[in-house]
Amino acid sequence: MAYIHFEKINKIFGTNHVLKDIDLDVEKGQLVTLLGPSGCGKSTLLRCLAGLEQVTDGHIYLDGQEITDVVPRRRGIGMVFQQYSLFPNMNVRDNVAYGLKLKKLPKAEINQKVEQMLDIVGLSEKISQYPAQLSGGQQQRVALARAMVTAPKVLLLDEPLSAIDALLRKNLQIEIRRIQQQLGITTIFVTHDQDEAMVMSDMIHLFHEGKIEQSGTPEQIYTRPATKFAATFIGNYNLPTAADFNRAFHTDIPGQDVAVRPEIVTLTKQAPKAEDGLLVAEGTITSHISHGNLIRFAVEFEGGLTLNADVVYENKLDFGEGDRVFAAMKKDLVIGL
Ligand SMILES: Nc1ncnc2c1ncn2[C@@H]1O[C@H](COP(=O)(O)OP(=O)(O)OP(=O)(O)O)[C@@H](O)[C@H]1O
Ligand SMILES: [Mg+2]
Repeated sequence: MAYIHFEKINKIFGTNHVLKDIDLDVEKGQLVTLLGPSGCGKSTLLRCLAGLEQVTDGHIYLDGQEITDVVPRRRGIGMVFQQYSLFPNMNVRDNVAYGLKLKKLPKAEINQKVEQMLDIVGLSEKISQYPAQLSGGQQQRVALARAMVTAPKVLLLDEPLSAIDALLRKNLQIEIRRIQQQLGITTIFVTHDQDEAMVMSDMIHLFHEGKIEQSGTPEQIYTRPATKFAATFIGNYNLPTAADFNRAFHTDIPGQDVAVRPEIVTLTKQAPKAEDGLLVAEGTITSHISHGNLIRFAVEFEGGLTLNADVVYENKLDFGEGDRVFAAMKKDLVIGL
């Protein structure tokens, strides 16, 4: 059995069926992400694992033991929420020491553990400061230190970075991942930010309306979305109907819809050399948008099909609106849904 094993979890609030037959495994030492739009049940599943909510039906196992009905404080789970929940009247040392004091550890041991953990999160010199004297990112690192210092079996992180600005957020993503790997803490991370999920996870579980739509490594989820919802939520997929796509590219991708990542489409002024498995069609550029390092061109083909194509920006624009171009892509990268 996996280290954490959810078996047919259902959660119903009144008439709202929030979690529907969720089966989910987390291996020891992994960081897995629950990714999905607002309201799909991510926090509810975490809260069921922590014991803050009772499941309506189903079983939860941790480290071989059933914990479905175990009280929260006996589950060995640490949690960090979206809002920093530090004690404002305690300095950093006392905030981090809190859980260890509850366990009545000797003072010297508490001090040593707190100092070691603050060193890991890079906040040693803030040990005597109060939360109000810290930036948002620093406060969130204290919250992490406080959750990790008790060496929980499992760490639950519910959108811990959502209140933090973009640059610091990127740094903290990498830091959390580093600390998690260094300490080998089994971690479940919740986010609705796909980039964050890609950067941090061993495994991603994509949630949709109380069910797991797709599970996989970041690469699998990114390059092989299994459903239209997954392709809508991940990346910047073009999602034309299969009929339109097949007509324009003279091919036979099966299914209702076709998912094409903009970065697999190459644009050239001259027709590319024909080769096996290369799909080519001629079209007209209708717009372009700069995304800094790349330009996203929209190309319209005969029959009304339009596809976005991402081109790495070098130092000049090769094409402009109204230009005729050849769009080409490898057929095996095109996904029929
Ligand atoms: N204590 C509760 N009582 C009643 N309904 C609840 C309760 N907690 C959550 N819900 C409902 O369950 C659904 C899922 O909520 P949940 O908080 O798990 O979503 P989420 O995926 O974490 O969303 P977000 O990304 O916005 O945090 C929502 O429809 C919400 O209204
Ligand atoms: Mg939530």
